[in-house]
Amino acid sequence: MIVIPKEIDPKDLYKLLIGSVLPRPIAWVSSISKEGVPNLAPFSFFTVASTVPPVLCFAPQYSKVEEKNGKTIPVPKDTLANIKETKEFVVNIVSHSLAEKMNQSSAPYAHNINEFEKVNLASKPATHIKPPLVAGSLINMECKLYDIIEIGHGLLGGNLILGEIICIHLNDSVYKNTHIDLDVLDPVGRLSGNLYTTIKDRFELERP
Ligand SMILES: Cc1cc2nc3c(=O)[nH]c(=O)nc-3n(C[C@H](O)[C@H](O)[C@H](O)COP(=O)(O)O)c2cc1C
Repeated sequence: MIVIPKEIDPKDLYKLLIGSVLPRPIAWVSSISKEGVPNLAPFSFFTVASTVPPVLCFAPQYSKVEEKNGKTIPVPKDTLANIKETKEFVVNIVSHSLAEKMNQSSAPYAHNINEFEKVNLASKPATHIKPPLVAGSLINMECKLYDIIEIGHGLLGGNLILGEIICIHLNDSVYKNTHIDLDVLDPVGRLSGNLYTTIKDRFELERP
């Protein structure tokens, strides 16, 4: 079977893509509005883009659009709106023990709602930027906006947000002799639908 993306329903294309590109790591992104309201949401369209300079990227999509004067206007998610305004964010890594709260924080709360309070999650101040850290995350990366590339301007269009990491917070239990202890970190990844994965089942291949 061959699928030509242009010829299928965008919702089916979304399902095809998230079912094919997996498991995906999760950036649990804290940001802050210009009025000072913290925001927290997970994004699994996420990876490292560069080591020197250290740059991460993730992609909030437009999942809502509004019609105005015959024009389709995409509605940015709070994370995208905040980062455009304040140019800072934190990527918090999600351990298995935090998966439930991470999922709760993905609900479509209004712009003026603080998800930390809504899901009853402790935060702590960052050291270099304004958005708070997820206190329970074993790794938090403070980022300053590097660039935003808008890829589509309609429903399910993406926005690639690139952020330069300026400070990494590592819990002492997780960082040993320059290595991250994966058993301690116990990260989760996103699959398709409502499925997630842990990294309990691992195998090794020596690099040629
Ligand atoms: C595990 C997980 C991964 C997600 N990944 C993405 C993603 O990569 N891009 C996206 O636009 N939405 C993603 N979502 C949905 C957003 O988290 C959701 O739309 C959220 O309400 C956005 O919050 P905000 O408006 O506060 O930014 C994901 C949800 C979950 C639970």
